[in-house]
Amino acid sequence: MPKYLFREGVDLSTDINDIVVTTPYATRSNPHRQTFRLKNAKEPLKKLLAALSQEGVESNQYLALPETTESAATHLELGLQLKNLYEKGLLIHAIDGCNGRAMCLLPMKPGIKQQPCPDDGKALKLSKFTSIHPCLEGLDVTTPLSPTTLRLQDHRLYPLIQKLLSPCTTDIIRNVLPEDLRIHHRELISLLLSSGVAGICNTNHNADIDQEAIEAGWNRQDLSFHQQTRRHIVDFKAQESLPKPIDRKAPPAKHQRIILSTVSLPTPSIDNQKTNFYQVIQQRQSIRTYDSNPVSAEALGNLLWYSMHTREEILCDPALPRSYEGLLRPVASAGGLHSIELYLCIHLCIGISPGFYHYDSFEHSLGKISDLNRPCESMLEMAVNTTCRAPQASSVSPGYGQRPDVLIVMAARYERNASLHSETGLAYALILKDAGSLYQQLYLVATALQLAPCGLSFGSSELFEQASGISSKAECSVGEFMIGNPK
Ligand SMILES: Cc1cc2nc3c(=O)[nH]c(=O)nc-3n(C[C@H](O)[C@H](O)[C@H](O)COP(=O)(O)O)c2cc1C
Repeated sequence: MPKYLFREGVDLSTDINDIVVTTPYATRSNPHRQTFRLKNAKEPLKKLLAALSQEGVESNQYLALPETTESAATHLELGLQLKNLYEKGLLIHAIDGCNGRAMCLLPMKPGIKQQPCPDDGKALKLSKFTSIHPCLEGLDVTTPLSPTTLRLQDHRLYPLIQKLLSPCTTDIIRNVLPEDLRIHHRELISLLLSSGVAGICNTNHNADIDQEAIEAGWNRQDLSFHQQTRRHIVDFKAQESLPKPIDRKAPPAKHQRIILSTVSLPTPSIDNQKTNFYQVIQQRQSIRTYDSNPVSAEALGNLLWYSMHTREEILCDPALPRSYEGLLRPVASAGGLHSIELYLCIHLCIGISPGFYHYDSFEHSLGKISDLNRPCESMLEMAVNTTCRAPQASSVSPGYGQRPDVLIVMAARYERNASLHSETGLAYALILKDAGSLYQQLYLVATALQLAPCGLSFGSSELFEQASGISSKAECSVGEFMIGNPK
């Protein structure tokens, strides 16, 4: 029989006549698990809660009213309490078959709406946004559009997911099911719909649940990344199953690289500064055409100093066990982690020979990694080919971009963010935000220095890996920026 049970992480306690329910949910801003009270709880409610904690409660039990009005009132009230607990995301809805548990709907946050099995004739379809993850009990099917996991525990149900790629009526679904589960086909369809894994097929041949996201152009990866990194409610039980922080010291802020030689950059000097800060903001723009006179080591040094040099090394969260080395730089970085490093493909620069360099933000120097090798040439070529996607850049046609004097590659040491954000799951999202912060810093400083700046969207982590010889798991490129002297 389909039944409800409390999900993991629901704890009950008694306070005089009230029952206090501690939920598995907290918010990002308040890590304490949320609680609520069932005031003046009577015996029937206590019995219901005890059953939900143990053997479960038959899910259809409170649908039909009993004969006597007295028990009807209690019945109605218990039915409402059950609905309330379901919508608060505290109940698993499970269907058992001859092999034991066949399928269940696991809530991951409050706000779940139960969807009934539709009338005959309506067809169901799998959501385009579903993902399947194997787990010890079977397969977890999820969609970023709904705060639930649909767990298929009986492997005989796996073909159903594939079948739902095409619209299926309730009859078709019923016939796909193993015989012992057919009597539950309406509940099973209700679970599919309530989980958001499937929706009713609409006139656009989409699952209705997908329509808005499809119209807005979302793809599965982006929607799932967005949902994971911007959620407000945190499920403390799900947190427990995340990979635990590796028991070792947080990676240091300073990381030595193998270099061939060092080029000291000139000490920064800003004489005869004509424009003030607000004028710089007003003037900032992308410039994609360059003067034949290349940038100088002095200008490049100034750009790097005012964007990226390390002002100070600090200890962050010194009072906590997770204390870690942080940095202070002119540009902002989430948690002071500054996991982004700058690499430079120098094509032309007065005072610095062409080559591939790493910027040492502590010493304000460039460490030469190699000459301009083939992958560096490819990165410069890619910059040229992807220049001028800008709507207002009518002067340069796609594919006719000019080679910048210097291509700056932003590469992130993922492990720095991962060590701090294994629990929040925000490591990569924050790296991308740091990259955004750095784009603007480079734009403003380059404008103040009267250089020609332009950010780039298309870069290749593979080319960076080949050019640097550093595994992309250790450092991955996340952004590119072109610099030259304006024409
Ligand atoms: C993250 C980012 C990526 C960009 N990618 C490209 C690109 O691939 N090609 C290009 O020509 N311009 C690129 N730009 C520049 C934008 O096209 C430019 O900022 C936009 O057209 C507005 O022009 P403005 O910078 O002159 O105000 C990029 C800018 C940023 C911040």
